[in-house]
Amino acid sequence: ADGSVEIPVIVNVLYNTAAENVSDARIAEQIAVLNADYAGTNSDVNKIPSEFVPVGAGDTQVRFRLVNTIRKQTATKSWRTNDAMKQASSGGIDATNPTNYLNIWVVSKMTSQGKTILGYATFPESAGLWNDGVVIAAPFFGKTGASSPFNLGRTATHEVGHYLNLRHIWGDANCGNDQVADTPTQTTANYGKPTYPLYNTCTGVQRSVMFMNYMDYVDDAAMFMFSAGQKARVQSVVASTGARAGL
Ligand code: ARG
Ligand code: ZN
Ligand code: CA
Repeated sequence: ADGSVEIPVIVNVLYNTAAENVSDARIAEQIAVLNADYAGTNSDVNKIPSEFVPVGAGDTQVRFRLVNTIRKQTATKSWRTNDAMKQASSGGIDATNPTNYLNIWVVSKMTSQGKTILGYATFPESAGLWNDGVVIAAPFFGKTGASSPFNLGRTATHEVGHYLNLRHIWGDANCGNDQVADTPTQTTANYGKPTYPLYNTCTGVQRSVMFMNYMDYVDDAAMFMFSAGQKARVQSVVASTGARAGL
């Protein structure tokens, strides 16, 4: 697809308790959050600091459409980031045609090295492989009944950003490079609800950082923008010459 693209989505729900069997309404709510955040029509878009308005993505021209929900009850109460949820042979649900569909797996809970993980994703290098897609733990999926402060559906916005080739805004290193020119270089990840402006110094240059970007680690209520440079990366990956042209 070129320009505007509507990505068909398969939601694979692996639940142990009834509460983890997220409702159709909650899935619709999550798809609506993705559509608003990627369109730049999120209700908190007016919170973008004026300094960053000129480099805001506006509409990324990516949309999402739910095509199927697959549900499976399992005795597994907790998952790890080892892709077991993505194959029936390891207790999960096989991906549906990952070249042409974004597969999202919703699992009960997830840990990595003993710590809770909200979600994880594959980058476009994995396009079409059996494990391609996004995983989100049920407490952080959708809004209604989700777990504060990650209850605005933005774990999916962030993970789908990775799926569409976006890196963490701090470049996963001290003053790292996220390959996007218009996101200010920042020392490290930000958490919670930082107060604007927040300054960092990298290689002797002090910058006001874009902690309100979806690709930082702040709370759901504290993130509300993509940049124009991030939009360009996303668009090149869904373009007819891009790794995710099949969507
Ligand atoms: N991959 C990150 C994690 O598992 C997700 C961070 C999402 N952030 C958010 N505000 N929802 O920790
Ligand atoms: Zn991430
Ligand atoms: Ca940058």
